[in-house]
Amino acid sequence: MMWWCLLLLFCVSSALGYFSPDEVLSLPGLSTTLYFRQWSGYLQASSGKHLHYWFVTSQQNPLKDPVVLWLNGGPGCSSLDGFLSENGPLHVNDDGSTLYINKYSWNKVANVLYLESPVGVGFSYSDDKNYATNDDEVAENNYLALQDFFRKFPNFTRNDFYVIGESYGGIYTPTLSMTIANGPAKINFKGYAVGNGLSSTYFNDQSLVYFGYYHGLFGDTLWSQLNRYCCKDGSCNFFNNSDNNCKDSLKEVFTIIYDSGLNVYSLYMDCAGGIQGNLRFLRDLKNLFHFYQFEVVENTEDSSNLDPPCINGTAQRTWLNRADVRKALHIPENVQSWELCSEVVGENYQRIYSTMQDFYLQLLSKGLRVLVYNGDTDMACNFLGDKWFVQSLNQQKTLDYQPWIYNKQIAGFYEQYGNLTFLTVKGAGHMVPQWAPAQALKMFESFLSNSPY
Ligand SMILES: *[C@@H]1O[C@H](CO)[C@@H](O)[C@H](O)[C@H]1NC(C)=O
Ligand SMILES: *[C@@H]1O[C@H](CO)[C@@H](O)[C@H](O)[C@H]1NC(C)=O
Ligand SMILES: *[C@@H]1O[C@H](CO)[C@@H](O)[C@H](O)[C@H]1NC(C)=O
Ligand SMILES: *[C@@H]1O[C@H](CO)[C@@H](O)[C@H](O)[C@H]1NC(C)=O
Repeated sequence: MMWWCLLLLFCVSSALGYFSPDEVLSLPGLSTTLYFRQWSGYLQASSGKHLHYWFVTSQQNPLKDPVVLWLNGGPGCSSLDGFLSENGPLHVNDDGSTLYINKYSWNKVANVLYLESPVGVGFSYSDDKNYATNDDEVAENNYLALQDFFRKFPNFTRNDFYVIGESYGGIYTPTLSMTIANGPAKINFKGYAVGNGLSSTYFNDQSLVYFGYYHGLFGDTLWSQLNRYCCKDGSCNFFNNSDNNCKDSLKEVFTIIYDSGLNVYSLYMDCAGGIQGNLRFLRDLKNLFHFYQFEVVENTEDSSNLDPPCINGTAQRTWLNRADVRKALHIPENVQSWELCSEVVGENYQRIYSTMQDFYLQLLSKGLRVLVYNGDTDMACNFLGDKWFVQSLNQQKTLDYQPWIYNKQIAGFYEQYGNLTFLTVKGAGHMVPQWAPAQALKMFESFLSNSPY
């Protein structure tokens, strides 16, 4: 009689999360008491694909606050960068030895699920080690992983749910959102947000030339060449122009922005490692001027890491690759070591969509709320391209472009079209929660609670 009773108790309790083997009870390099719970382990996607997740509960009211899925981009970059240096509750110090509390963590107001996707990224892996994938497969696998998440954490199935993605997450997020909205799983899906996202390669490339010129990056020789060779009758095509002189001028634009020593992710910040620092990256992330297939100079001297240009991921890499940290996060020994971005995933990734227009239109028509936000100094996915993208959706404007305020200062600008908001974060680069953390938390809170910015 006793034994099955105990067994039943165990099953019920573990279903409620009492004895979940994924729970993280202590972390190397952390000495403070935490006011939230956390789990790290694997969610199963399609057969043999294991996606690493790290889930933190809200510091306020876990059972009532929304659940938010956070996705970094690339393709091929890890969402643990989001955790450890953007909006996660614990950040890693410079030498990768200790963790400290991020007081602007997004788990102040939400339960946040960080998912390393697709397989091959960070600690995510597949049994067959085949890491070639594409936009549709990623959406499908993220959806399967999400269903596995709600199976593991049934307490959270009734909470409101949102997806938020950054950069190439501009593709991951609407595609996954569509899969959720049309899928059988009972998820209380309310909306999605995209930060410095790739929403349309046309608008992203087209706007970048104006962004560069009007931020003082090109001289008048280049500017008049661009106008002479890429424009006709007052309209310019920088996206897929077949004129060879135009192509040569755009190659110069590309080199200045991506390959000269400027920090493409944050115009007014230094480039880690100086002007050579951006050459460490072995490959282009292929998000800019894709049509022309411009080559990036390779630096064969230092291929010791796969950080994006001008970004220094040493601290995260050092901490995450410690044996005791891997153990605490429940990473099996045979799983690859952690990199900020995976070369094999990036190189073999097949892009299916060049615009998210249809996805946005359908998702808006289902009554979902959508936020498109951009740090306005980023050049990888610049604010103007996303603004033009949002405007191209032709939704009825309900609020004119105007500033929003944080701490008695203008924090940026925004405009609204019913449930669709476009918002800038003034002076922030590509990683908004990292470089404008307080403003980002306020924005996040306003979006979730559907209150004024
Ligand atoms: C689920 O809810 C139960 C009862 O409120 C609680 O004891 C348990 O810790 C919760 N589990 C998780 C994973 O939050
Ligand atoms: C150039 O891009 C536009 C906009 O996406 C598209 O309609 C057109 O077919 C493209 N032309 C070429 C030559 O690729
Ligand atoms: C990257 O950061 C580490 C500290 O985390 C530092 O030792 C190293 O010099 C930095 N590298 C570059 C290229 O900035
Ligand atoms: C906006 O979203 C709400 C739900 O949050 C929905 O009820 C409403 O119909 C949507 N409005 C439009 C114009 O789609």
